[in-house]
Amino acid sequence: MKIVVTGGAGFIGSNFVYYMLDKSPDNRVICIDKLTYAGNLPTLDKAASNSHFRFVNIDICDREAVFSLFEEEKPDIVVNFAAESHVDRSIRHPEIFLQTNIMGTQVLMDASLAHGVKRYHQVSTDEVYGDLPLDRPDLMFTEDSPIRCSSPYSASKASADLLVLAYYRTFGLPVTISRCSNNYGPYHFPEKLIPLMIINALHNKPLPVYGKGANIRDWLYVEDHCSAIDLIIRNGRVGEVYNIGGHNERDNLTVVKTILSILGKDESLISFVEDRKGHDLRYAIDPSKICNELHWNPKTDFDSGIKKTVEWYLANQDWWEPLLERSKLN
Ligand SMILES: NC(=O)c1ccc[n+]([C@@H]2O[C@H](COP(=O)([O-])OP(=O)(O)OC[C@H]3O[C@@H](n4cnc5c(N)ncnc54)[C@H](O)[C@@H]3O)[C@@H](O)[C@H]2O)c1
Repeated sequence: MKIVVTGGAGFIGSNFVYYMLDKSPDNRVICIDKLTYAGNLPTLDKAASNSHFRFVNIDICDREAVFSLFEEEKPDIVVNFAAESHVDRSIRHPEIFLQTNIMGTQVLMDASLAHGVKRYHQVSTDEVYGDLPLDRPDLMFTEDSPIRCSSPYSASKASADLLVLAYYRTFGLPVTISRCSNNYGPYHFPEKLIPLMIINALHNKPLPVYGKGANIRDWLYVEDHCSAIDLIIRNGRVGEVYNIGGHNERDNLTVVKTILSILGKDESLISFVEDRKGHDLRYAIDPSKICNELHWNPKTDFDSGIKKTVEWYLANQDWWEPLLERSKLN
């Protein structure tokens, strides 16, 4: 299988590159990445010497460059991870989110149509469903939940999803979409909650927690997300959306306290800060469809995944230290 992976120098994309290269010697992976502040070429160091891997520094919005690469490589499958992905940045600078997340998706789908790609997979997010109330633990997002975005980030992802489904209906492009809950694990950029808290705790710096830390996220270890996407691109039904989540709901304060406890640090490091604008209260995914149809099951529960993640950050300081300056919001 020849697979184009966009955004492969980012968090989930890089994990997917390694997952696919490890999985089968028959896979050839071509990674497209613009290397924005969130893209980090050293993340792919271990793939660079693999003859089944190629990295190309391209903006997915650059139609000419994308078409020319597709002409040269003739990929079987495209998996689109490339995106502006940080909600706080989308509140400060929405424009770039619309450009990359929507227009970039269109360019990739046009190139996929022109070059007969057998499967175009769009990596989306549970954030397109908006949020759930904190006092209704019985409610979860299914694939039929209404789209109700809260941030420019989620609105841009939802717009792209609509465009992907329209390309299926109008042009017959063989598409699938996955909507995953919050991921964590190796190579997670230090601006995001879990790595930020690990790194601040290691430096004995305050751990900034929005509001009261009551917001609930459904955490999935990144390798489980990769295995789900691999199943969808092979066995998923064309034109379908699949929710991905592992029933690992935790409120932010519990996540932060768990990290402090693993590191043996004091909870006095926690510092409550003014809440994010429009902050979603709770996300919870119902993954029954992918579990029943494709027999996917996540392997890592939160307690073991968070331990593995903290250990990874302790062992890979040389990976994250150079990224600290870049991860500051501006
Ligand atoms: N992180 C999560 O918890 C999560 C959960 C659900 C879905 N997602 C989705 O998964 C995808 C990957 O998320 P992530 O957390 O790995 O993001 P990330 O920010 O770590 O990585 C994004 C990558 O895309 C690249 N990129 C950005 N704009 C580009 C462009 N115009 N052209 C080419 N490359 C570009 C960046 O350089 C970076 O390498 C996103 O589409 C995101 O919406 C993420």
